[in-house]
Parts: sequence; structure tokens; C-alpha cells
Amino acid sequence: MLKIGMIGAGFVAGFHERALCSVRGVEFAGVCAPVGAEALAERARQDGLGNTEVFKSVADLCAAVDVVCIFAPNFARIDIMRDIAKAIEGGAKIKGIICEKPLARNLQEADIIARMAKALHVPTAYFENQLHMPSVVEARRQLEAVERSMGAAHLARSAEEHGGPHEAWFWDPTRQGGGVCCDMGCHSIAVGMYTLTPSGKPPAYLTPVSVTANMSLLKWGKEPWSSRLKERGVDYTTAPAEDYSNVTFEFKDPDTGVRSIAQATNSWMYDAPGLRLLMEVFGPGYSYTVNSLESPAGLFISDAAATAVADSELALEKAQATSGALVLQPNEPDLYGYVAEWRDALSSFEQGKDGMLDLEYGRLITMLVMAAYMSHEKKKTIDLTDPAVLRELETYVPLIQQGKGTEVLGGD
Ligand SMILES: NC(=O)c1ccc[n+]([C@@H]2O[C@H](COP(=O)([O-])OP(=O)(O)OC[C@H]3O[C@@H](n4cnc5c(N)ncnc54)[C@H](O)[C@@H]3O)[C@@H](O)[C@H]2O)c1
Repeated sequence: MLKIGMIGAGFVAGFHERALCSVRGVEFAGVCAPVGAEALAERARQDGLGNTEVFKSVADLCAAVDVVCIFAPNFARIDIMRDIAKAIEGGAKIKGIICEKPLARNLQEADIIARMAKALHVPTAYFENQLHMPSVVEARRQLEAVERSMGAAHLARSAEEHGGPHEAWFWDPTRQGGGVCCDMGCHSIAVGMYTLTPSGKPPAYLTPVSVTANMSLLKWGKEPWSSRLKERGVDYTTAPAEDYSNVTFEFKDPDTGVRSIAQATNSWMYDAPGLRLLMEVFGPGYSYTVNSLESPAGLFISDAAATAVADSELALEKAQATSGALVLQPNEPDLYGYVAEWRDALSSFEQGKDGMLDLEYGRLITMLVMAAYMSHEKKKTIDLTDPAVLRELETYVPLIQQGKGTEVLGGD
């Protein structure tokens, strides 16, 4: 029975609590967070996940659990990792460290986190749920024999879109790392690359060749939307971030030399029923599609009854309406791959191994995201086979992340 400790008790920690209800051999033993810890612990106890306690510090939490999870905001990653390292050096017996996406705001930070984890000799798991989505996993499994005879997929289109994040810090590019490309492009780039990866090969197998990106601020810089952000303490007239991002990567199979393309489209201006994850994958003679808004279940709520709805997010993540025809997804933690990523991480840690995706993989995704920002900023295709470009990326901090988005999100 592995004891889990979560650092952070917000939106994603709540999703993980729901996911853990479907995972065996686990106890949600503790949580540590400035806001929300008591409520999360209470829910976990009610769900029978254990005697979940609230801890005042990361050190106390680490002393009481086997697996520690970083589910706090992006800007807090390095400090939290340092606290975990101190706790382990002080004797805490940690069998695994989990970190939510994105690993970091930029490559310098990602390097620090990945190096610290390596020095601790503790197995890690980078939580990128979309690679574990049962629909993606099953489509790949069903197509294994087809792929063997016809060749690997050569075009992937992936998207994650919704109407905008729930907390102010996500909108602040200096704290989050950018706009939608950093926040959700990391998902779509990772899953796009994965669906192009031949089955049986590791997730970091393909060689990145180039990236071409376009980013824009289409909705949230306009009125009345920018004033709504201002009410939440976010000023997009001085430090904007992109609410739309369109990124195209070219990859190469290092064994066969075969080229493939991944297009990732992400937006915070998807004024539609709620969060949509979309994957379209094309191989020679075959294809598959995943659309998370297609559900066998639906709800209808008339205007007369709409005031009775307590929380539209109970039906679907980032739901935008409380009346009319609503999409109902009865098991989102399973649909989005949270349950499967836990099972993978915990069974790996029990064997003393990294999860399917480790923090080094998270670093690779950070590099690809940074390269996308660089392409947008320089208005050109970035050559990812050029050692000078790779060196430049190591210390690159996008202008948007520096709070200078007005320089690159204008309409010229
Ligand atoms: N996989 C996914 O689809 C997905 C979805 C949402 C969020 N995330 C990721 O999860 C992370 C958290 O996002 P969220 O939506 O839960 O944010 P949130 O703002 O809803 O919650 C953040 C939590 O962390 C706590 N916190 C803040 N500063 C802290 C610190 N220094 N030390 C410890 N705890 C701290 C807050 O009190 C809060 O409990 C982000 O990195 C985000 O990118 C992933």
C-alpha cells in the first residue's frame, strides 16, 4: 500500500483525488497547500481513501508518505523541489516523485528540476495525462498490426481548447510561463509526438527536426473580456499572453529516416460547451479520431430550471453554460487518462522504476514548447537539428513570459 502526499490542493489535485478512487493499493495519506488542503483531505476521507491528514510543511508531508506529488502552480516548482530534496536528504524515505505538466516555465528551470531529481536517485513520473487516455491507448493497440504492415502514422493533429483558465495565476505569463501554448500546448505537442511514435518505441524516440508557430491574442485583449481579466487582477494591456497558438513540428524516425508532422492547436477562446480534447491521427491507409466532447450521455436544462444548477463543472470540465443541451461525461478522470497515469506511476515506483514518462521527458516537452515560442517571436521556422539553436534554447525565456507580450502579440 503506497502512501500518497499531494503538494497543492486546487483544481488538479481535486481531479487526482477522484482518480485515486479507481486505483488499488493506495492510500491518500496527506496534503500540504496554502489553500484548499482541509477541504480536499475531508473529501478524501469521505471517499475512503485513507485517514488523509493536512501537513503544514513539505518536510512534514515527505516524512509521512511514500510518493510525493507536485500539484502546485508552475512558479512554485523549484522551491517545492528544493524542499523535497532537503526532506529526502534529511531521511524521508520517498519512493517516487510526481510532477504535473508543464515541468517548468522554461528550459533553465526544467534543467534544475530534472537534475535535482536525478541527483536524489528517486524514480519520477511526469504527469501528462493525454498519453494515457484510454481512447488513445486502445486505438494504438488496435492498430498495432496495421501499423507493422503499413508503417507508422505520419500526420497528427491535436488540440486542447476551452474558454480560459479558472485561476488568475494561469493568465499571468510571468507566473505561468506564457499563455495557452505553455499551459495546454505542452499537452497537445506531447500527445501529437506520441501518436506519431512507432509502437514499442519509447515516448522520446522521435527526433525533432523543426517547428513553425503562430500565436495570437484574439479574444482576451478585447473589451469586455480584458476588463473581466482586470477585475481578476490580470492586465492584458501591459503584459498579455497568447490565447491562441498553432504549432507545427516536423519529426524524423532516427532508424528509418521517415518524416512526420504534428500540428498542435490550442486556445483559451473556445466558446463551446466545455473542454475539448481532439486528436486526429493519419497513417498510410489508416486513421483514428478522439473527441472528448462526444459522449453517449447528455443533459437538458430549460431556462425555467437553470437557477437550480449548483455547479455546471460537475457535468464537464470548464463547462460554459448551465442551461440548454449540455454534454455529460460521467467519468472524466478515466476519460482524460488520470486513472491510467496513476496506475502506471505507482506500479513503476513499486518496482523502483520511473513511470512511462519521467521528468527528463518533461524537460524535452519544455524544450519543444520553448522552441515554439522562439519560432513565433522570430517569425521563422526553427531548425531543431542545429546545435547553435539548441544551445540558445537552453537559456531562452520568451518575451511573453518576461511580461513583454505587447512586443510580439501586436496585429502587424
Ligand atoms: N493535467 C492537466 O490537465 C492539468 C489540469 C489542471 C492543472 N494542471 C497543472 O497542475 C498544476 C496546478 O494547477 P491547478 O489548476 O490545480 O491550480 P490551482 O490554482 O487550482 O491550485 C493550486 C494549489 O496549489 C497551492 N499552492 C500555491 N502555491 C503553493 C506553494 N508555493 N506550495 C504549495 N502549494 C501551493 C494552492 O494553495 C492550491 O491549493 C499546474 O502546474 C497546472 O499546469 C494540469
